[in-house]
Amino acid sequence: MKVEQAIESLKAHGQDAVVERMAKLDKAGQEKIASQVAKIDWDVVESIAHQSEKQEEERIVEPLQAVELKEIEQKKEEYTATGVEAIQNGKVAAVLLAGGQGTRLGLDKPKGTLNIGINKDLYLFEQLINNLLDVVHQTDAWVPLYVMTSEKNNADTVAFFKEHDYFGYNGDYVKFFVQNMVPSVDYNGKLFMEAKDSLAMSPNGNGGWFLSMLSAGLEADLKAKGIEWINVFAVDNILQRIADPAFVGATIQSGTPCGAKVVRKNAPDEKVGVMCKVNGHPSIIEYYEIDEERANARREDGELVYGFGVILNYLFRLDTLFAIVDRNLPLHIVEKKIPYINDAGELMKPETPNGYKFETLVLDMVEMMDDCVPYEVVREKEFAPIKNKTGKDSIESARALLTENGVAF
Ligand code: UTP
Repeated sequence: MKVEQAIESLKAHGQDAVVERMAKLDKAGQEKIASQVAKIDWDVVESIAHQSEKQEEERIVEPLQAVELKEIEQKKEEYTATGVEAIQNGKVAAVLLAGGQGTRLGLDKPKGTLNIGINKDLYLFEQLINNLLDVVHQTDAWVPLYVMTSEKNNADTVAFFKEHDYFGYNGDYVKFFVQNMVPSVDYNGKLFMEAKDSLAMSPNGNGGWFLSMLSAGLEADLKAKGIEWINVFAVDNILQRIADPAFVGATIQSGTPCGAKVVRKNAPDEKVGVMCKVNGHPSIIEYYEIDEERANARREDGELVYGFGVILNYLFRLDTLFAIVDRNLPLHIVEKKIPYINDAGELMKPETPNGYKFETLVLDMVEMMDDCVPYEVVREKEFAPIKNKTGKDSIESARALLTENGVAF
């Protein structure tokens, strides 16, 4: 996009402040911003104006039957055998979602490079690879690993893996791809700038992972390898089991195109999204969306009817991902702390949220599936997310859980 066109586009969308800043830049700076403007989807940026207009469609919420621990105990061998066979036949790949910015942790580097070790180094990426290596040893097969990064952290992430020799993984089985970016805006919809010659751009949420994979040209690779299932997982759960054979096997045996690892809610009001059915489709209903009656409803055995929370570990059948790839995922407008330059050109790092980012979420892909099987795992063994600096879901809580699971660090 030419500089003049970018200026016209910015003016047409009420972004005169950016135009004024552009006027003070040299040609290279102006061209840099013009290239960012060229990629802006104004419908996305301007969607904040329609936030309150969202019409609540009628939703029929029902429970969704999970494969629970008791059943898993009984069928563990059978599930594991099915999963191991699929992995050995090269049908299972994993996608590490590492494009996020970890704003709650206030990190400058990729979240996966966080060192949580005390007596020795233990990086988040390293522990995830260790977890995946358990499966490699169990199956005697490498699981192809695709790592989603963003424009902001791709170079650091790739360099980190190389520098650490893939933490013992086979580098031939690791591929990186970069997700798309969207601009961030203040509460009035005005574009933030993060440098004199750059708009504040942020990754477009973890829901774009499959499209970004295809944009990166990885379809050929998936097909050449004969991949049929993809296990998508978050970077920040240090106890994350990846390509877990029993989970893979249970999902395959269920005949559904999707599996979701879930943990039992520890209280009716715990703040996690729970798996259920909405209008006949598998869905994740957020804790603030569920009414009190449902949140407290109990089954005959005393357990919660809506009792399973998701942990961002999903298994999707590849053919169903292709089938939904053209459908638009809903856009989430999320309040975040967005660094920006002020009028004096100084970089400000706000302590509290100051604007919006736009994200699509992987959990909305689940809703597009005809069915999905929740698969229960033991929270203390598989769920140690690191989201916050202190307290709940922090480095300290994750360290405690690592110790409980016999991991030295
Ligand atoms: P979170 O929603 O916790 O976001 O991501 P985050 O960016 O890591 O942290 P905060 O909210 O800014 O503090 C859940 C998972 O989705 C990935 C993250 O890397 C993490 O594995 N993710 C998130 C992406 O890959 N891309 C995104 O655009 C957002």
